[in-house]
Amino acid sequence: MAKRKEPSLDPTPTPAARSRELNSAVDVENGSDEVRFERSLRPKSLDDYIGQTKHKDNLRVFVEASRRRGEPLDHVLLSGPPGLGKTTLAQILAHEMGVELHMTNGPVVEHKGALAGLLTKLGKNDILFIDEIHRLNPVVEESLYPAMEDFRIDVMTGDGAFASSIQIPVQPFTLIGATTRTGMLTAPLHSRFGQIIRLDFYSVEDLARIVERSAHLLGVEIAKNAALALAARARGTPRIANRLLRRVRDFAEVLGSGKIDEAIVLESGERLDIDRAGFDEMDRRLLRIIIVDYEGGPVGVETLAAALGEPRDTVEDVYEPYLLQQGYLGRTTRGRVATRKAYEHLGLPFAGALLATITTQSDLFDE
Ligand code: ADE
Repeated sequence: MAKRKEPSLDPTPTPAARSRELNSAVDVENGSDEVRFERSLRPKSLDDYIGQTKHKDNLRVFVEASRRRGEPLDHVLLSGPPGLGKTTLAQILAHEMGVELHMTNGPVVEHKGALAGLLTKLGKNDILFIDEIHRLNPVVEESLYPAMEDFRIDVMTGDGAFASSIQIPVQPFTLIGATTRTGMLTAPLHSRFGQIIRLDFYSVEDLARIVERSAHLLGVEIAKNAALALAARARGTPRIANRLLRRVRDFAEVLGSGKIDEAIVLESGERLDIDRAGFDEMDRRLLRIIIVDYEGGPVGVETLAAALGEPRDTVEDVYEPYLLQQGYLGRTTRGRVATRKAYEHLGLPFAGALLATITTQSDLFDE
């Protein structure tokens, strides 16, 4: 029967996630409360997990096949912007497989010995979750290869002429790597994953269902149109939706009847400076810098990050993906450009600036 399924080590939040939390108008309280709140709402099984249907359906098959064979699940790489549920999926997969989940973070595994310590603790078919796997030390990463392929670690003993390598077997296990950017993984590591899952931003309808589920767990009443209005302001991201739900609940309790209706969601959005597209002050600043300070772009990402006062990683991992996906931002070989939609959103005249900076339509979406 299933073993204990609690994670053995909490992951530290990514710098990007941390930065977004600090900057988001939605987050006005300290992390630990938020983290506890988010955890309490996490689905525990694939059946409870809303959205990402294609991935979910495939994973259900792979879990069933692995369980029948008594083998570990193939190694899985989960990629996507922060807050889309990479950690949640890892926890669900451990639960569904009836194995223990061991969690760590790329930069935390500082040397080969630390990795060997983690690997030798694993039970049969357990899951090792490495968040921010693209930030693994290259030496540690290399020693992961034989573990992933042959369930063994190679340890060097002795010096000089007496140096030799001994092989230590480890239990068959599944590595789940999480990254905000697949492009930053080395080719040898990337190729060792049997499944690559790119999590997409959630549709407003799926986010509304997540909000309704969370409201139900919190014991708050929410109208359907209120859940949809809230979902539309959550940047396609469950973590942001749940955080916003918490704020709206406060407004509903103090300013309203306690029940969440559409009017209280709209008022909360205004008070928190989240506009109808779900953009906060940082999103609007980013677009305004490109449009006003750089005449629509192109602007290099380093310049943009400096103007925003944010690390480049945060701009690329946290702010840009949603703006790109929603068509407010374009990426060209020479930098970022604001699209007509961005001008219109900010109520600024679009003077064909974009057309003057790009040569072809495909240029708009090139790296
Ligand atoms: N809470 C956060 N993400 C969720 C999801 N995908 N499904 C259900 N509840 C969630």
